[in-house]
Amino acid sequence: MRLAHFGWMGILVACGQPADSDDAEQVVGPTYYEDVQPILNQNCVSCHFTGGIAPFPLETFEQASVVAANIKVSTASRTMPPWKADNSGDCQTWADARWLTDDQIATLGEWVDNGSPAGNPEDAPEDTAEELPGLNTIDATADMGISYTPNDTEEDDYRCFLVDLGATGNQYLTGFEVHPGEARVVHHVVLFDIMDDDALAQAQAMDDAEEGEGYTCFGGSGVNGNLVLAWAPGSPPTQFPAGTGLPLNASRPAILQMHYNTTGGTFPDRTTIDLQLADEVETPSAFGFLVDTELHLTAGQTDVSTASEWSMADLSEWWGAPEDAHFNLYGAFPHQHKLGKSIKVERIRDGEATCLIDVPAWDFHWQQMYFYDHAPIDIAPTDDIRVSCSYDTSTATEDVYWGEGTNDEMCVAGMYLAAAP
Ligand code: HEC
Repeated sequence: MRLAHFGWMGILVACGQPADSDDAEQVVGPTYYEDVQPILNQNCVSCHFTGGIAPFPLETFEQASVVAANIKVSTASRTMPPWKADNSGDCQTWADARWLTDDQIATLGEWVDNGSPAGNPEDAPEDTAEELPGLNTIDATADMGISYTPNDTEEDDYRCFLVDLGATGNQYLTGFEVHPGEARVVHHVVLFDIMDDDALAQAQAMDDAEEGEGYTCFGGSGVNGNLVLAWAPGSPPTQFPAGTGLPLNASRPAILQMHYNTTGGTFPDRTTIDLQLADEVETPSAFGFLVDTELHLTAGQTDVSTASEWSMADLSEWWGAPEDAHFNLYGAFPHQHKLGKSIKVERIRDGEATCLIDVPAWDFHWQQMYFYDHAPIDIAPTDDIRVSCSYDTSTATEDVYWGEGTNDEMCVAGMYLAAAP
């Protein structure tokens, strides 16, 4: 459990310096206390707190006013808050979307244009922080068991750890909550269910071969494993769509992949993930991955596009589902590497395209699972799925191909599916 925001902080700070209410009344347009602080508290402070992943806090008038111009630019361009899946309504809408309304963006812009006035702390609206729902139960915890200090010779350290889940048997994962140990460095958390004993032995060998805890891994876990959760900073506890759950062998260790970003320094981290498990679920789900392994990108181009189209009948066969299976699609996990610029997934039915997810400005730093905030989308065996990506290869001196390495690329659509009743 935790609070959605910290509305009282600005008020506490303001207590020491009572504002002159006569002056405040003369302010025309939005003021910090009345209009801006509530927006920042609800949409920014979950990362922009002292000691958080963001480079500066946005908890007080003083902190917000020194970066006011930057706030206007980054919200108008929708780079902040970071939320990569289009939530405008042009391509679905998403649960827990960090998405400012056009009115909120206009208010921030107007405040900045007017010289970012403080206004009167007494005008601050009542704090309406809601307690976010947490997990119903915590049935296992994935724990690194040690503290790991990210390597600061690189800006990004990608590290995999074998973690015991401390539960037994084949279960279903129905929800999770990530507790970053050191918020200043934890940029991504991904958990992989290891497929079999061979894969476990391979992971163990990679761990043993490298000095220190864990082993280096970039795109995936390096062994045969299924992604069961992906998290980025600012994401609340996640409950998978009602009635669904992902198979997870809870008695075998899993692989915890950490992406550490050390631009703000390097600090020891011990991240844990609380897992909500069930012995049975109504409709077991799966991540169906569409991976274009034939990717070939010409070097030195600012805009290269690729598209692949898949028939659902073929995909079903590949996933081991009946050829005539109907699915419900609940959400997606889009994935590219660092040259990626955009990724879009569409359902093609009778020649007509329905947008399933659109990431118009891909950013490797902000990848996570997205779930619809509405009913699932039906996928029929006669549908095709089209995945379109674009890249900027101007920094590459050689052609780029599909692969798991930092210099390889990917155009991957992970689809959170369950068989339709
Ligand atoms: C989910 C975490 C998160 C949230 C929520 C968030 N930020 Fe950020 N912000 C960051 C991080 C991390 C950076 C550093 C750059 C990066 O990694 O993208 C950043 C950078 C910035 C910058 C520096 C310029 C830039 O664009 O890089 C500004 C300004 C900013 N944020 C403003 C805001 C505002 C205003 C909000 C709320 C409307 C907000 N942020 C919400 C994490 C967040």
